[in-house]
Amino acid sequence: MAALPRRSALGLVFMCCAFLPLAGTAVHVLGDERGLGPEFDGIGGLSGGGATSRLLVNYQEPYRSQILDYLFKPNFGASLHILKVEIGGDAQTTDGTEPSHMQYENDENYFRGYEWWLMKEAKKRNPNIKLIGLPWAFPAWISDGENWPYSYPDRTAYYISSWIHGAKLYHNLDIDYVGIWNERSYNKKYILLLRYTMDKMGLEQVKIIASDNLWEPISWSVLHSELSDVVDIIGAHYPGTISSSNAKKTGKKLWSSEDYSTVNNNVGGECWARILNQNYVNGNMTSTIAWNLLASYYQELPFGRDGLMTAEEPWSGHYEVQSPIWITAHTTQFTQPGWHYLKTDGHLEKGGSYVALTDGKGNLTIIIETMTHNHSACIRPPLLPFKVFQQNVTFQLQGSFKQIEILKVWHSKFNYDKKAKFFSQLSDIKLANGSFSMPLEVDEIWTLTTISTGKHGNFPEPPSSNSFPKDYRDNFNVKTPPFSEAPYFSDQTGVFEYFMNYSDPGDHVFTLRQVVTQRPITWASDADQTISVIGDYAWQDVNITCDVLIETANTGGVFIAGRVNKGGKFIRHAEGLYYWIFADGEYKVTNDLPGNTVLASGKSGTRAGKWHTLTLGIQGDVAYGLLNGYPLWKDVRVVQPCRGWAAIGTHGFELAQFDNFHIQAG
Ligand SMILES: *[C@@H]1O[C@H](CO)[C@@H](O)[C@H](O)[C@H]1NC(C)=O
Ligand SMILES: *[C@@H]1O[C@H](CO)[C@@H](O)[C@H](O)[C@H]1NC(C)=O
Ligand SMILES: *[C@@H]1O[C@H](CO)[C@@H](O)[C@H](O)[C@H]1NC(C)=O
Ligand SMILES: *[C@@H]1O[C@H](CO)[C@@H](O)[C@H](O)[C@H]1NC(C)=O
Ligand SMILES: *[C@@H]1O[C@H](CO)[C@@H](O)[C@H](O)[C@H]1NC(C)=O
Ligand SMILES: *[C@@H]1O[C@H](CO)[C@@H](O)[C@H](O)[C@H]1NC(C)=O
Ligand SMILES: *[C@@H]1O[C@H](CO)[C@@H](O)[C@H](O)[C@H]1NC(C)=O
Repeated sequence: MAALPRRSALGLVFMCCAFLPLAGTAVHVLGDERGLGPEFDGIGGLSGGGATSRLLVNYQEPYRSQILDYLFKPNFGASLHILKVEIGGDAQTTDGTEPSHMQYENDENYFRGYEWWLMKEAKKRNPNIKLIGLPWAFPAWISDGENWPYSYPDRTAYYISSWIHGAKLYHNLDIDYVGIWNERSYNKKYILLLRYTMDKMGLEQVKIIASDNLWEPISWSVLHSELSDVVDIIGAHYPGTISSSNAKKTGKKLWSSEDYSTVNNNVGGECWARILNQNYVNGNMTSTIAWNLLASYYQELPFGRDGLMTAEEPWSGHYEVQSPIWITAHTTQFTQPGWHYLKTDGHLEKGGSYVALTDGKGNLTIIIETMTHNHSACIRPPLLPFKVFQQNVTFQLQGSFKQIEILKVWHSKFNYDKKAKFFSQLSDIKLANGSFSMPLEVDEIWTLTTISTGKHGNFPEPPSSNSFPKDYRDNFNVKTPPFSEAPYFSDQTGVFEYFMNYSDPGDHVFTLRQVVTQRPITWASDADQTISVIGDYAWQDVNITCDVLIETANTGGVFIAGRVNKGGKFIRHAEGLYYWIFADGEYKVTNDLPGNTVLASGKSGTRAGKWHTLTLGIQGDVAYGLLNGYPLWKDVRVVQPCRGWAAIGTHGFELAQFDNFHIQAG
């Protein structure tokens, strides 16, 4: 019958000589005589929604490439099948803003932001990786300022199709799938027009995912309208491993197009292991995509560390490879999009699940999970009642698989007492007559496969963790910036990008400029001001100096700030100490971004079109401000907040420039 992998008292597995089935096992038959099950579409990670890869670009080599290898390199780490990115819309989309490729009508620029670069890095490592684009927000011109992207659906369709076309034209990137509007309503007319526009632009091969929200009402609509001709995939978010009956009835591919959203410690790994199998076993979903790909944003922003791994310290080079990377590897290194699930019920008698997949050419991969953890830290704890026990299982291979004599074995075990072991290769299983039995403990993942290319990739330990430099300056003097944004600045409303003014006579040829001039079609609650944060959230005492240029006469204004205590979707209510100057010759010191609490104000003589130097000092509970090196205000009491990031920004959605930024922290 079978040779058995057995575990010694030390938890090691070895091969047993017995061919008898283990006690108490049901036999799971894996065959292809009745045809194959649904096509598998791959496991992915999501960069964006928003700015979740922001800090990655600022890592030095070799660390940046190492992180990318852990995510994308085949047979190395997570070896992802799919990269999904945000189509930037200039607005706050959870952890920051990402720039649009068309910031105003007649504007086209396919070199803003870092998603193009990320997609190319992914393709470099895995030319077969699938790419998905999805918008969260849109620039205002799309709807003439209305907060709704479907007022002129033809315009929106042109805007999105242009992004896909630009990806090919400027970066040679083939986008495989496009979504509608993340976790917001879809519009039937728009979806039909998107298909029509893409076809007209030669993008017939791009498939449409709808609608990155709940299963309904999109499934109902696909069942009962002409949408069934144009929607290729029904994508739901955080489905809790279940799909609706309408969704199944559509006969479309069902995806968990955003899932996971858990801190990347062991709990995150357990949630991820469970849903990777059970999204198919319970819900017929053939793809699962993790939000987010990589936690590469300041940790105190919303959902800190909710990535497959963490890289949030470009200044030190430190990054952390955590369990979700290896949990992903259990599936991704031994399957590919285009493989098929076998027709089996993947529920195990004593809890847990398995999936079995084949390339249709004789290869077989079985992935088993026995996660017990019903942890509230999983964003969607299990919906179905479940208990998982130690058990023995027997598999009987039939059809094309009957001749398989050896399966490679990969194993992970979550262990709360000892150091957990992830993705270790154990001795092969030798089959006799296509059958084998094995014992399963709880909180394990097994991959049993004919594929022999699996590898636990490794780099030397990265540098140890270190805080943001206490003395940091940037004069933005970069002739050909590799990215449109300056290192470490993390835009929370508005978009700050490198700017060159060759007609400037002197010191301000290269600057950083805020470029969003109209409130975008937002996804979260963007502030009414623009703001970009930088530095260490733990900073208390700081001196910040920055040259600033107001570009809007009469109504314009800019600020520098310390102790900014909120970001992401909470940016509207960020407190801190804000030092503003205005084009009308006034200054203000406020305790919050909206300016509800004014701590000081008066005449400054400042105006638009002239560079000014602002200095803000915060020491204990007292602050002072200089203008062009001279005291303007002092002895302002700061009761709260007691710490936070530094920031720059503008009074409204207006052009403004910043130069010679310098921060010293205590
Ligand atoms: C395999 O099956 C054949 C035919 O059914 C049988 O004769 C043989 O003993 C089996 N081998 C093992 C190792 O069970
Ligand atoms: C698994 O099989 C072994 C060997 O037959 C047996 O000793 C053990 O009790 C079984 N375990 C369970 C949980 O049934
Ligand atoms: C979904 O899965 C169930 C159980 O495996 C199966 O009976 C059903 O046919 C599947 N439905 C679809 C639409 O694939
Ligand atoms: C399995 O996949 C490998 C490539 O991963 C391929 O070379 C081989 O032909 C496939 N088929 C079998 C039966 O191993
Ligand atoms: C999981 O835990 C949650 C919260 O603790 C509880 O509401 C839920 O019923 C549990 N689910 C299962 C399947 O045990
Ligand atoms: C560029 O520099 C020139 C000369 O100082 C100035 O008049 C102009 O306003 C600057 N343009 C911008 C956009 O800053
Ligand atoms: C800020 O500047 C003041 C005046 O030069 C100095 O006394 C203080 O130590 C500085 N604070 C920090 C955090 O560098």
